[in-house]
Parts: sequence; C-alpha cells; structure tokens
Amino acid sequence: MIVDAHGRRFRNLRVSLTAACNYACTYCVPNGRRLQPAVAELSAEELLRAVRLLIESAGIEKLRITGGEPLLSAKFDAFLPAVMQLPLNDVSVTTNGQLLPRKAELIAAAGLKRINVSLDTLNPLRFRAIARSGDLATVLEGIELMRDAGLKVKVNMVPLKSANVDQILPMLEYCLERNIELRFIELMNMGHLKHGSAYGRDFFGMDDILALIGRRYEFARTDAAYDSTSVRYEIPNRGVFGIIANESEPFCASCTRLRLSSNGYLYGCLSSSKRHAIVDALQLPDDQARTVLQNRLMGALADKQTLQFKGEVTVMKFIGG
Ligand code: 5AD
Repeated sequence: MIVDAHGRRFRNLRVSLTAACNYACTYCVPNGRRLQPAVAELSAEELLRAVRLLIESAGIEKLRITGGEPLLSAKFDAFLPAVMQLPLNDVSVTTNGQLLPRKAELIAAAGLKRINVSLDTLNPLRFRAIARSGDLATVLEGIELMRDAGLKVKVNMVPLKSANVDQILPMLEYCLERNIELRFIELMNMGHLKHGSAYGRDFFGMDDILALIGRRYEFARTDAAYDSTSVRYEIPNRGVFGIIANESEPFCASCTRLRLSSNGYLYGCLSSSKRHAIVDALQLPDDQARTVLQNRLMGALADKQTLQFKGEVTVMKFIGG
C-alpha cells in the first residue's frame, strides 16, 4: 500500500467516463458551449480494467462514476453493471440528472444503492440561466424515480451570489421533505473562474450559508465519515444537510481521492494540474501493469496539497469534481 507522510492513501476513485456534458453551466464553461469528449477517450472495457487494476494496486474501496456527464456516455450502460461486480464497498454516480428518467431502469437493475444529483435551483427559468441547457422537470422526475427504486439520493448545489442564493431555503425544504441530503458545494476557483471576476463576485461560503439557514432552522454540527469532504449539520426531527467547504474548511489533510480521467490520466489532487498517464500500463499484462501503476500512483499521491485547496486552471469537466 502506498501511504504518504501525512498518512494519506488512495481509497476513493472517481472515474470520469467522458469529458462531454449536455449542460454548459456558467461556473464550469465560459462561453456557453457544451463540452465535447476528450480526444482518445478510453473504452468501457479499458476503464473497467483500469479500475480493477487500481483496486489491486492502490487499495481502492470506493468508486464514483463522474464525467463530464456520465449518463451521456454510451459506455455507462456496460460500465455500471460491470463495476457493481468488482470487490468495492461502495459505488455511486454523480449526474446532472437530465438523462436519469431514461436510465432509471438500468440503474436500478444494476443494483446501485446511491446517487448524487447536481441541482442548483428549483426555478425553471433560473435553471436554464445557470445550466444553459436541459430542463428542470426532467431532473426532478429523475430524482423521484431514483427514490422510488430505493436509492439514497443526495443533491449537490453550488450557491452563487448572483444566481441562486435565494434558492438555498427552497432547495433545503425540498430535500428535507424527501429525506435527501442536500450538500452545498462552495464555489471552487477553477477553470475560467481563475481569471475573471466571477469567482469573487459569486462566492457564497459556509458562514454565509449557515447564517442564511439559521434564520429558519435550528441545527447542530453532526458527524461525518473521517475522509468525507463534507461538514454535516442536523436539523432536529427534519434531517441532515452538508457543506463541502473547500475554502472555509479544507479537507486536504484527510483526502483519500484519486481521479481517473476519461482519456486515461490519474490526478492525485483536484488542485493540481499534474497528471500521470496510464494508457501505456493498460497495454501490459496484469502483473507488469500493476508495477507501472504503483509508480504512477506514487507520483499522484505526491501531488496532494498538504493543507489547503489552492485552485487550479484544471477544468472540473475533465475530472468531474
Ligand atoms: N466549484 C464548485 N463546484 C463545482 N462543480 C462544478 N464546477 C464547480 C466549481 N467551480 C460541481 C457541479 C457538480 C459537481 C460534480 O461539481 O455542480 O455538482
């Protein structure tokens, strides 16, 4: 097992099936153009083999399927049922939910237990203004289908001062009513946000979020898994919400995440643009591939920040958060 000086190792793998996305969220892409697949994306079989080898070489226990938008990829239909058969403690998917109604049956049949849906507003017009595509009702239908199928649903919301702060309480009420854990993701200074003024203008952090929620609800901090990214709060008799406070309460010291991009690069840190190609390793027989991977994993682990998320020009789209 590869462990660094801070006692960190890789346990959670996030695999991006494709860099393509059917949304063009304002905070993710600057020009309103939808994202395209990366050049030379790996096939479902190659990604599956990479996951299996990383389970063996890095001790991966948890897997999250991301994108881009993973449900947009034709690979999803074969990849999900296949990874459900691997020796993992936990498999989950992060999706914008637009294709959930179409994929609901496949997801339920594969035996997926939990799913995270990204949703920034409950207002249909505002939805279009932020995502610049898609349709709110379809996402809400997808969420209901997942709940009906018995999956545990979490919703991710990125609060933006200029776009959806007034949606924080309606979103929280919507989620509490459905036993959904809502997680507010502090805006990260990534991609095009690094350059312009949008980040400073739109950042709405943990203190602000808690103050706003405190006007309507009583809540107390509750526990979270030790390597969880989220700070969790309980509203007595109602439910739980979380804040992923990249800026206000960085979690680098206990980060166990490893990312694999759709075109075959490992990223040890979301805040570093350093990457480690593994396509060559995937040409080799298992035992040799594992040896090469050990090397790349050591490189990726060394990329982790010690204390604080610094932000990078790496665009979220490639590695799905
Ligand atoms: N800051 C915070 N969250 C972001 N996401 C995408 N870009 C950013 C950013 N700059 C979120 C998406 C989705 C998750 C994968 O990451 O809204 O919920």
